[in-house]
Order: sequence, then C-alpha cells, then structure tokens
Amino acid sequence: MTKSVFAYRNGVLCVEAIPLSEIVEEVDTPFYCTSAKQLQRNYRAYATPFEGLDATVHYAVKANANLAVIRVLANCGAGADITSAGELERALEGGVVPEKIVFSGVGKTRDDIAAALLAGICQINAESLSELALIEKVATVLGKTAPVSLRVNPDVDARTHAKMATGHKGVKFGIDIDQLGDALKIILSSSVMVFKGLTVHVGAHLKDYGPFREGYEKLAMLVRLLRDQGVPVERVDLGGGVGIPYDGQVLPPFSDYAAIVHDVIAPLNFAISFEPGRRLVGDASVLVTRIVHIKKAGDKKILIVDAGMNDLVRPAMYGARHEIIALRDDGKALREKVSIVGPVCETSDSFGDQFELPSLQSGDMMAIMQAGAYGSSMSSTYNGRALIPEVLVSGAQHAVIRRRIAVAEQMGWESVPDWMVITRAA
Ligand code: LLP
Repeated sequence: MTKSVFAYRNGVLCVEAIPLSEIVEEVDTPFYCTSAKQLQRNYRAYATPFEGLDATVHYAVKANANLAVIRVLANCGAGADITSAGELERALEGGVVPEKIVFSGVGKTRDDIAAALLAGICQINAESLSELALIEKVATVLGKTAPVSLRVNPDVDARTHAKMATGHKGVKFGIDIDQLGDALKIILSSSVMVFKGLTVHVGAHLKDYGPFREGYEKLAMLVRLLRDQGVPVERVDLGGGVGIPYDGQVLPPFSDYAAIVHDVIAPLNFAISFEPGRRLVGDASVLVTRIVHIKKAGDKKILIVDAGMNDLVRPAMYGARHEIIALRDDGKALREKVSIVGPVCETSDSFGDQFELPSLQSGDMMAIMQAGAYGSSMSSTYNGRALIPEVLVSGAQHAVIRRRIAVAEQMGWESVPDWMVITRAA
C-alpha cells in the first residue's frame, strides 16, 4: 500500500515534505492544501487498468476547477469533462487540448455551444431533443461541424445519495431510451452534426459498483443494436461516479470497477471515455482550519472553527462526513469526543458530532480530510466571508494557487447606482 501524502512526522501533520503549520504561517487559516503527488497517483491509478484499450480519462473539472489542479492532471495526460463555457476556458487555460474535451450538462446555452464549437472540442454530450435543435442552429450559423454523443438515461438505481443519483427515470439527466430513436434520426439527417456514440453517467460517489454494471450493460446493448442497424458508433462515454472512502468507509477496490469495464464494454471495441472527478482529486486536498472558540452545549463539547459551510458545503448539503484530524497529534494525549461546527449562522453549518480528537484549545488547528472534490469549487462568500486561499504542494515546494479574495475585493464586483444618494452617518 502506498504511504499517504498526508502523514504525521514527529507529531506534526505534513503534506508530502512540508508541515502544514509552515503553510499556515504564510496564508493563515482557513485554506485548502492540495498534493500534486496525490493527483498524479490518482490519475495513474485510474488510467493504468485501461492501458491497452483506446481509453481517455476526461477529468470532470467541476470537482476542482483550480487552474493549477487542471494543469497537473493535464500534464499527466488527462482530458477534461466540462459543464459550461466557463469550465471550457479553465480547461484550455489549464493546458487541456480541445481534442480531449467532452461537454456534459443539461442546460447548455447558445453561448456554451458556440464556445465549444469554436474551440473544436471532441464531443458534446447532448441530453435532450431541444438541445439537439440548438446545436443544429448554432453549428449552422458558425459553419462548424458538431460532434455529438447522446447521453442516455439508463433508468438504473444508483444506490447513492438521493442528490447524487442521475441515472433513474424522471430525473433531468440524459435522454430516455424510448426517445433515442428520434434523437438519432435528428443527428443522422443533419448536415452539421456528426454522431459520435452514447454516453452514460449513473450517478456520483457510488460505493457499490453494481449500478455501473447495470448501466453499462444497457449501454452495451444499445450500441450493439445501433451497430446491427449500420449506425456508425465511434466511442462510448462511461461518465464518472466512482466513490472514495470519506470517514473510515471501506469501498470495493477500483479494480472491481475496472473489471466491469473490461467485461462489459471492452469487447465492443469502441473508443472509451471516462469522466472521473472525485476519484482524481477527492483525497488530494485537505481544508486546514483553526479553532476559534470552544463551548459546552447540553452534554456536547463544541469546537467552533474558522472554516464554514461556505468553504465546504458537502456536510450541510448532503450530510457528508469528512474525517477531521489535529495538525499536531503525538498519539499520546487522551482522546475526547467533540462536535465540530463552522461560524456561519445556519444550524446546518456543522461538520458533525462524535469526532475523537486529542484535547485541543482555541487557536489549535485541524485538517478536514478528503476535501479536494466539490470543496473549493462549491464554495461561496455567504455570511460576508472571503474566498479562501488554495495552496499546491509538490515535494518540498509549495505555491499559493489561489489567493484569499477578501470582502473588500468582492465589493469591487458590485456597484451602487449613481441615482442613489450615498449618505453616511456622521
Ligand atoms: N460526469 C457527469 C456528467 C457528472 O454529472 C459528474 C458529476 C461527473 C462526471 C463526475 O462525477 P464524480 O466522478 O466526481 O463522482 N457535489 C457532489 C457531487 C455532484 C456530482 C455532479 N456530477 C458532492 O459533493 O459529492
């Protein structure tokens, strides 16, 4: 087993070769810290089992859209899976070549589609008949050819968190199987759209891979049908969604997922796309936070920290539990059970109860683990808070890859109409 890049050395939590406390001195808490080595390892772990197949790993940029993170993965050979023209800009700036960019999402606008066609990305994953009509229009106006794949709704129970299931009937994602014929006809009769193949994304953070098998078997059945009818299929896109262990959970090994792909999809002999997000970045970052206050409430001891739900919304939004550990821990101090909450004025701003930690004081620091996926990318400025810094570590080097965006700077994004009389109390 490979040694974690986040490990204690003499009781001090380090990332790769650097004690996190050293970075605190430079950027102050709270901040995200990402290990380049872990990103590289994760990419290799994802791509290696599919070597020998015609497979491309398109990093789902939504998981962590920082340019330096994209750059590390692009340097490993990753393409990108984007959901907007904004993510397209980021992917290109992060060094991803357009030929390796696929475009997901149910609500692509005229501008999104135009940007994708002008950039020359390899595939737009269309999710409705209405979207096909818009692609047709935009491509015609621009005089471009649009490479289109149809995202199928496989009607599979993803057996994941209800807010992360995307492959069952009635959700907004994908095209129902009974509408596929119509969708295909539109593409095949178009002079500006080229049919690339079918796409499926069963859901996010799957901890049980059975639904992947189910979804992929339906996809395989559909592409065989198409092939039998003489429809040219170039590639199948298998989406993302492989989970990671967050708080001591045990997940099936990635090799089980790879085995499903080898069993069900590889024999079709098409090019294969993957769209992983969490699996590439989830365990590569921690969120470092400091205890601001400690209080008793009922029979609970509550640590109030300076990171809140605006910085990491997953616990508040999905009831997710991230492991939390102290920055200093020699393993000798007595442990106690504490609740850990953020400062935001919302009851849901809580990282959870019953964390077992050494006895800590105000000012001590902790790391919220596995915070790399959907952490900083879903953060906000709610409650008048800064967007927090992000730091990338690579061996003994580190760099700030996003500086703190303080409220004073955020206010510069706004303006008060000049027809309002500005008065200040004397
Ligand atoms: N492809 C498509 C079409 C997707 O919708 C998603 C995620 C992915 C790929 C990447 O999935 P991943 O490999 O990261 O599971 N905010 C939630 C997760 C929402 C995922 C949305 N779509 C969270 O914090 O867990």
